[in-house]
Amino acid sequence: MAKAIPFFELNTGAKIPSVGLGTGGADPGAVADAVTAAIKAGYRHIDCARLYCNEKEVGCALKRLFDNGVVKRGEVWITSKLWCNDHAPEDVPESLEKTLQDLQLDYVDLYLIHWPVSMKKGSEGYKPENLTETNIPATWRAMEALYDSGKARAIGVSNFSSKKLGDLLAVARVPPAVNQVECHPVWQQPKLHEFCQSRGVHLSGYSPLGSPDAGTIKTQVLKNSILNTIAEKLGKSPAQVALRWGLQMGHSVLPKSTNEARIKENLDIFYWSIPEDLFAKLSGIEQERLVKGTVFVHETYGSYKTLDELWDGETSDA
Ligand code: A2P
Repeated sequence: MAKAIPFFELNTGAKIPSVGLGTGGADPGAVADAVTAAIKAGYRHIDCARLYCNEKEVGCALKRLFDNGVVKRGEVWITSKLWCNDHAPEDVPESLEKTLQDLQLDYVDLYLIHWPVSMKKGSEGYKPENLTETNIPATWRAMEALYDSGKARAIGVSNFSSKKLGDLLAVARVPPAVNQVECHPVWQQPKLHEFCQSRGVHLSGYSPLGSPDAGTIKTQVLKNSILNTIAEKLGKSPAQVALRWGLQMGHSVLPKSTNEARIKENLDIFYWSIPEDLFAKLSGIEQERLVKGTVFVHETYGSYKTLDELWDGETSDA
């Protein structure tokens, strides 16, 4: 039997497994096998979203795993996310309902506002004219109602800057449990890390490997020379060192893979650590945000005219 996955405790008292399988961008044809391979390898956390258009396939894989007694519902952590075109308070419960239907679940363990960006109801794609003014406090009140109902056992946000998270904390009745953001050795977000830690919000890192196959991305996290030198010294792969960095920072990490060998490799990060002297060297890596959110910024439409407004200045090595 696989050993239990170490976890982090959220401000709700719930225990979020420290590694989760990311499913963004996974082909609907491949995602069910990936989820099945991950759960069989010992993963107990799957990170989903309506945006990924594959929750039905994830749900089918989970149902088979439950039916076959591989794992019980209560042993698996499932996260999903509210897409930008469902921010209107009346649309929030309906959106979670669709996700629950697709995933064939009664509740999710964590439900996140995917971006601090609103789009017109029913709109598709990233056309600027789809962007509308955000009202995060109103959307959050609808998220709180889902928390009260038990259909979302924890609620949180994603892609929030320290300022946006602080603004939300100032008005929230139920404080966000998680801020899920891009985080890896090439985008370490020390300011956001400190802020989250000081306010009891758990930071969960997406693209923890820097999404190495994303064509437009110039910075190759796994090819970084400092990371590679450390990996060689420790006899680990660059991916394992990148993930282990996240764990040692106190973040949960959400690597994506549809390859069984790499799914297993990405879980083998618990019973060793990066020694302090080598860990310190990782903070010398040149920083670059890879997921810039350019599509959410427009001078006429939406709430943000510039990337600086979207990220509240946390755009370089803040
Ligand atoms: P694949 O599905 O072929 O394994 P991120 O989680 O940062 O977004 O990165 C996801 C990408 O990283 C996917 O393209 C995935 O490809 C690749 N990947 C996942 N695990 C590893 C690994 N251990 N080594 C190299 N590439 C990996």
